[in-house]
Amino acid sequence: MSMTRAYCITAEAVAAEAERAGGDYDKVDISKIVQLDDLELRDLGPRDVGMRILAVSAEHNIEHAALADTVNIAEGRGGKIFPGNSAVGEVTAVGNQVTKFKPGDVVITHCNGEPDDYGYPLRIWAYDAPDSIGWYGKDAVVEDWQLVKAPLDCGLSLWEIAALPLRAPTAYHMWRRALGMFRVKASTEHRSVLNVMSFGGGVGELFLQLAAADGHNAFFCAGSAERREALEQFGIKGIDQKEFNRFKSRDDIRAFNKRVKQLTDGEGFHIVCDMLRGPCFEAGLTVSARCGVNVSSGWQLSQEVSYNTTLMSVKQVTIDHTHYETVIGCGATTELYGRVFKPTIHKEIYSFEDLPRCFEEMHENTQTGIPIIRIADEMPAPVQGLL
Ligand SMILES: NC(=O)c1ccc[n+]([C@@H]2O[C@H](COP(=O)([O-])OP(=O)(O)OC[C@H]3O[C@@H](n4cnc5c(N)ncnc54)[C@H](OP(=O)(O)O)[C@@H]3O)[C@@H](O)[C@H]2O)c1
Repeated sequence: MSMTRAYCITAEAVAAEAERAGGDYDKVDISKIVQLDDLELRDLGPRDVGMRILAVSAEHNIEHAALADTVNIAEGRGGKIFPGNSAVGEVTAVGNQVTKFKPGDVVITHCNGEPDDYGYPLRIWAYDAPDSIGWYGKDAVVEDWQLVKAPLDCGLSLWEIAALPLRAPTAYHMWRRALGMFRVKASTEHRSVLNVMSFGGGVGELFLQLAAADGHNAFFCAGSAERREALEQFGIKGIDQKEFNRFKSRDDIRAFNKRVKQLTDGEGFHIVCDMLRGPCFEAGLTVSARCGVNVSSGWQLSQEVSYNTTLMSVKQVTIDHTHYETVIGCGATTELYGRVFKPTIHKEIYSFEDLPRCFEEMHENTQTGIPIIRIADEMPAPVQGLL
């Protein structure tokens, strides 16, 4: 066994901060909940890989874990979790049955914690997968099936590569599913170029990069001007969500619908990606085109939605729920790093010590791109040119 330093979330810290904030999620300071701790790593088993974490991206599920707004996952996992399911690492040791990796390789993680019979995750690593330990720490031990070789020659920097391990497979899965569903209803014979829209967030940005790369019309409806501007270079048009008051009223949704009709020649969006739900859900359905597909694997603003079945039937709209990519699909996603996926990253690269502040700033929604945390001080030779 060896010891390392890693960030944890305890049920105790979640409860204490919830009490201090008086139950108001907006007043919760996540930097007080995500805490550095000592972590004992297991001895290397035959299929295990030991790795040194180089860089990670901050993922939104930490906010859900800290707020306990969906499930109280720290409590559910016995009072403490070591989170983190998106990392780039350097292999330091391998078990005697590991053939895919060797010490010195640079790898990325995926967070499919337990594939079902079709390859989709029953559980997410470092979240609800029992005994899973995440990668917001200095070192980790993980089985080899949890790793993919990092595509270091894809043209992206180390920080951009670190932005993708969780968000890109999520976007990739949703895109291939949404497009497949639309094509079941309307083939390329009838319609080649589609109107595709996503609401804000890193997954939505990557989803739109896939759509734009396939030649479709892509629109990003977000509140952040910086993030909208960053996508303009890929031909993805911005729509300011705040102009529509973040869909607080029926009138806001009506005004949004009118704008979308102008932008799409009266047709609406054939595919909508909505990781947020809440007020975005009704807005997204309202602007869907005939035969549209509304796809999501997030519930940032609410878990419950309601809709008019009759209207959706008449419009032939499909509402699809996804979770995460298959293990094989996670590998395929890396083929598109740099070629299609060119993530916008937040202007500050956070230090290991500043990881809790990074999560608080994510909670405050002030970041201008995907937030990255540098974990290792010393970087290995293969990534020296990518800093
Ligand atoms: N199932 C999975 O595998 C999976 C993977 C990744 C993420 N997710 C989930 O998907 C959601 C989004 O994650 P992400 O990584 O794409 O996001 P992200 O990069 O963390 O960004 C979150 C976005 O939410 C938007 N936002 C914040 N407050 C909002 C509000 N009140 N109304 C409307 N929009 C608001 C912001 O966009 P603007 O302010 O610019 O509008 C921000 O860019 C999270 O709930 C996350 O847990 C699920």
